[in-house]
Amino acid sequence: METIECIKTRKSVRKFKKKDIEKEKLIKILEAAINAPSSGNLQNWEFIIVRDEENKKHVAKAALNQNFIADASVVIIACSNNDKIIFYGKRGRDLYAIENVSAAIQNILLAANDLGIGSCWVGAFDEKELKKILEIPENVRPLAIIPLGYPDENPEKPVRRSLSQVVFEEKYGKKLKIF
Ligand SMILES: Cc1cc2nc3c(=O)[nH]c(=O)nc-3n(C[C@H](O)[C@H](O)[C@H](O)COP(=O)(O)O)c2cc1C
Repeated sequence: METIECIKTRKSVRKFKKKDIEKEKLIKILEAAINAPSSGNLQNWEFIIVRDEENKKHVAKAALNQNFIADASVVIIACSNNDKIIFYGKRGRDLYAIENVSAAIQNILLAANDLGIGSCWVGAFDEKELKKILEIPENVRPLAIIPLGYPDENPEKPVRRSLSQVVFEEKYGKKLKIF
């Protein structure tokens, strides 16, 4: 799929078919993740792959009972290993650590879409509970739950704010002439 088309057609999918994701496709998705940019190439991302039915149910519960997560073929937990943030001080810890993993998360969503697999970025979860369930150590912070599966729905893509609302010329608030 052409890149811009892949970006434009990606949308959150919250209903999945009972069909497993092939190992080769999962590897492609994870390779896309680790090809993201990161501050100073620190690559603080780490991923937990949850496929066990009971574990998926526990994850869904920790995600404030977003039960569609348990129906996914694979659930990826995208984490930041904060021990890897060895440069950039407070800005590195507070901002870059999250931005780096977010870039990897977006690559996962796009690679999945390219391969015909639906996904959703889930950020609402009880962090403490998730860490306990998945035995995530102190220095590692789970940032997103990403359920992946073959789509069993074709939802409308939510409307975007227009370019003329979000793009400015030279200074904040000044409308760009082409709009
Ligand atoms: C940081 C973040 C957290 C999100 N958390 C959730 C969530 O907990 N549950 C959910 O169903 N969707 C969640 N979403 C998905 C958004 O609802 C979705 O991306 C948005 O409505 C735009 O729709 P689209 O992804 O189909 O373009 C989250 C997205 C982001 C980026």
